[in-house]
Amino acid sequence: MENFIAYNPTELHFGKDIIKELGNAAHALGKKALLVYGKGSVLRNGSYQDTRDQLDKAGINVVEYSGIKPNPLVEDVDNAVTLGLENKVDMVLAVGGGSAIDSAKLIAVCIPEQWSGWDVMKGRRDPVRALPVLAVLTLAATGTEMNSVAVVQNNQRMEKFGYRHPVMFPKHSFLDPSYTCSVPLDHTGFGIVDLVAHVLETYFGQGDASLSDRFAASIIQEAMEFGPQLMEKPEDYTLRARIMLAATTALNGLVSYGRLNGDWTSHALGHQLSLLFDTAHGASLSIVFPAWMKHMKPRIGSRLEKLGEDLFGNPSADHAIEGLESFFKRVLCPVRLKEIGIAPDQNEKILALMNKNKCNGKNPDNHLNDLDREKIVELMYAE
Ligand code: NZQ
Ligand code: ZN
Repeated sequence: MENFIAYNPTELHFGKDIIKELGNAAHALGKKALLVYGKGSVLRNGSYQDTRDQLDKAGINVVEYSGIKPNPLVEDVDNAVTLGLENKVDMVLAVGGGSAIDSAKLIAVCIPEQWSGWDVMKGRRDPVRALPVLAVLTLAATGTEMNSVAVVQNNQRMEKFGYRHPVMFPKHSFLDPSYTCSVPLDHTGFGIVDLVAHVLETYFGQGDASLSDRFAASIIQEAMEFGPQLMEKPEDYTLRARIMLAATTALNGLVSYGRLNGDWTSHALGHQLSLLFDTAHGASLSIVFPAWMKHMKPRIGSRLEKLGEDLFGNPSADHAIEGLESFFKRVLCPVRLKEIGIAPDQNEKILALMNKNKCNGKNPDNHLNDLDREKIVELMYAE
């Protein structure tokens, strides 16, 4: 077991109509909010109006920045920072999925110091404060609602990665599973894969942490049992609630206790697909993760065998990989590039970007070289 610090200051409000607690929470934090959201789903599922009602009741003035795109852009962060500075906002409130919330976290760091988002992302700044962030989550997937990470992309530099800083934990996150009932089937499946991938990334990190392994298996089992049921009954509140909680616990620190790090190579490789083809995050993972496990089998064989035992009662590396791949298919996610229309002639372009950005994870035992990446991309095309 490795040494670790458990720190998570986010106050999580979970359940039906829990948004009713937002007004008081916001009132205690300031008087003027920058409200950040995406391309309009929040206007249709009621979360936007409920949030506005709470802010109005609490007497909070609101300035809006909308149009954040999935796979969010650093330009939007910078534009929202300008708007926030002009209007002297004292908190940032995101309504939506990971893209809106991640953008809000970075905006909140940039406003007090008038920084550019990319300088922060690249580690050229050393934050000591941020505006308070509140989040109303409408999509179960990323875990951003209870962690200190923001992932944004820069299309000019062709880079997408995560930045983590303790000042970026949301102060309050509001999770009403009923807001997620409107998430379309494809994004529901992507979210399920994403939460499973977060647990897997941790599982393949360094450090012998038996309790972490058990948490990991439980969260994946929750997704494997209730994920396919949810795909059949997308408006079922209880199923939405189970998946929402699984997604939060998959990346709020719990699974990492006692580990030195996670792996995170598959996330790094998947981000290159998002950069090149605007692939949804979860879809990038359902394609990359099986390919990565197949290629890495000689190096991570004993962990795969343990995973096979924990998840399927069969200590076989191949069984673990096949079991996870077929689970990704059951939640209607693509497992090969051709399923999302990426033909073999894109192979070199993908590889060139992965090599340029030297895609790798945090576990040095699993580091990739250019040849490894070539083999992994081949597996993403395999019949
Ligand atoms: O833009 P709108 O109109 O809001 O539509 C969104 C978007 O099209 C829609 N949506 C969200 N809630 C909905 C809904 N549609 C109907 N009903 C609802 N209730 O879903 C689409 C995807 O939204 P997005 O926020 O992009 O999805 P997600 O939550 O999966 O976030 C993905 C982003 O998070 C990053 C990913 O890389 C990606 O950029 N990640 C963030 C992490 C973190 N901060 O810890 C970790 C993850 O590994 C991940 O990298
Ligand atoms: Zn992810």
